[in-house]
Amino acid sequence: MDFLRILVILYTIICLWIFLHLFGYYKRSSSKLPPGPFPLPIIGNLLLLGRNPHRSLAKLSKTYGPIMYLKLGTVQTIVASSPEMAKQILHKHDQICSNRMVPDTAHVANHHTSALSWLPVGNKWRTLRKICKEHMFTVHKLQLSESLRQEKLQQLRDYLHECCSNTRVVDIGEVAFVTSLNLISTTLFSIDFAHFDSDSAQEMKGTINGLMKIFGTPNLADYFPILKRIDPQGLKRESKAYFGKMLAIFDQIISERLRSRGVSSSDSPRKNDLLQVLLDLNQERDSDLSHDEIIHLLVVLILGGADTSADTVEWAMTELLRNPEIMSKAKDKLRNVIGENKQVEESDISKLPYLRALIKETFRFHPVGPFLIPHKANANVEMNGYVVPKDAQILVNIWAMGRDPSIWSNADMFEPERFLDNKIDYKGHDFEFIPFGSGRRICPGMPLAHIMVHLMMASLIHNFEWKLEPGTKPEDLDLNEMFGLSLHKAVPLKAFPIK
Ligand code: HEM
Repeated sequence: MDFLRILVILYTIICLWIFLHLFGYYKRSSSKLPPGPFPLPIIGNLLLLGRNPHRSLAKLSKTYGPIMYLKLGTVQTIVASSPEMAKQILHKHDQICSNRMVPDTAHVANHHTSALSWLPVGNKWRTLRKICKEHMFTVHKLQLSESLRQEKLQQLRDYLHECCSNTRVVDIGEVAFVTSLNLISTTLFSIDFAHFDSDSAQEMKGTINGLMKIFGTPNLADYFPILKRIDPQGLKRESKAYFGKMLAIFDQIISERLRSRGVSSSDSPRKNDLLQVLLDLNQERDSDLSHDEIIHLLVVLILGGADTSADTVEWAMTELLRNPEIMSKAKDKLRNVIGENKQVEESDISKLPYLRALIKETFRFHPVGPFLIPHKANANVEMNGYVVPKDAQILVNIWAMGRDPSIWSNADMFEPERFLDNKIDYKGHDFEFIPFGSGRRICPGMPLAHIMVHLMMASLIHNFEWKLEPGTKPEDLDLNEMFGLSLHKAVPLKAFPIK
């Protein structure tokens, strides 16, 4: 037998051995794991994910059903693709299914041990959630900072008016990102983090963008923990550098605020932002909230809120520019309720059912968190007669549910009207429509996101006509997605604002 033949036979035997013994083939048939595609040795089903895993997994679920099992490298993964399965995971078994898969890049600067988004469900996580729910994102607390947000929206309108005068094309995702970042940073600290069209003073924006990119990049070290020490893509090293910068900036903001609180006078009155609330809580006797926890909470709120809100606005504007009749209907409704020369206020949102419907339709058709933030099971749990194994990653594919023709009529069409005559809402009770999640881990920033997205959209629609670049027809607008921390548009949307 020649050398090559021996090598091939040896390789086949080794692969079979690894496959049968290490990658759980026997375990699968005996332990009632959900159905799923055949895993390759070592890499498992990683190659099936493709560039857009939400689409690839939606397609696979048509073959294997609403609960699937995949092996991604060494990570056991359960994919849920129906409202019934989402309800089982996020409602019936939420106590077992509410921990997180923490990416290796979040294991820097002790972020994973203090950050709301990565902590396991436990006392520390509960305290931080309670602070968000009771002290930061209540209607009353948000009302106190409304004037700060109105100022940021005025800056957006001023910038767009300037673009009108100079006939300058606008990158809508970019202006929505700057506005979202400033709406959040001003609500949190009364500070702007970004500026339109300026390269200076953009350090914070660059740092935030960098961290978001890192968190959104698939990392081999997450699928093969043996590689964590090597950090083959260098993502953890980059993450460390960005975190260092970000924590230093936040530390400085807090120190300055503490100093100014000490000398509070009529020249520097008490601020009505959320940092004030956090520092008050921190200085209470027996406080549950440390200085470090405040910093990591602020990091998480900025990272969780800026991209998601901006991407939603960019997708909504893309659909309005692709569908001029929906744009003109939205404009008419705004003009009728708000009046020609007035600006939308937060209290107007409840009087604008068509605006609300078109934003709901954007969340259905383009959910920016297609898998929510991956959950993890903290024990074996049975669902639909299958076992979800302890420590498995759980992906709830809300993108697949939003495009499912058995749930939505004309599922592949953008039709805001579908939300006008029903009571479906995104508060986490209607499991076919959960862009903010549901249950314990539901997005705590939803009340602020609700305000920001509606007001940004109202400002863009009510104050300007929009014209596409020469040669671009509405039906040619690109709808390709780029998978990451938030589901971006692959090709930025550009248009000219007109007064
Ligand atoms: C359109 C805007 C937004 C969307 C679509 C969105 C969506 C989501 C989703 C899907 C989750 C995960 C839920 C789960 O895993 O079950 C989440 C978590 C989270 N979001 Fe949002 N979000 C938005 C804006 C915001 C804003 C403005 C903030 C704060 C300022 C925020 C802060 C957070 C935090 C801290 C978490 C983690 C909660 C935890 O793990 O307990 N989000 N969001």
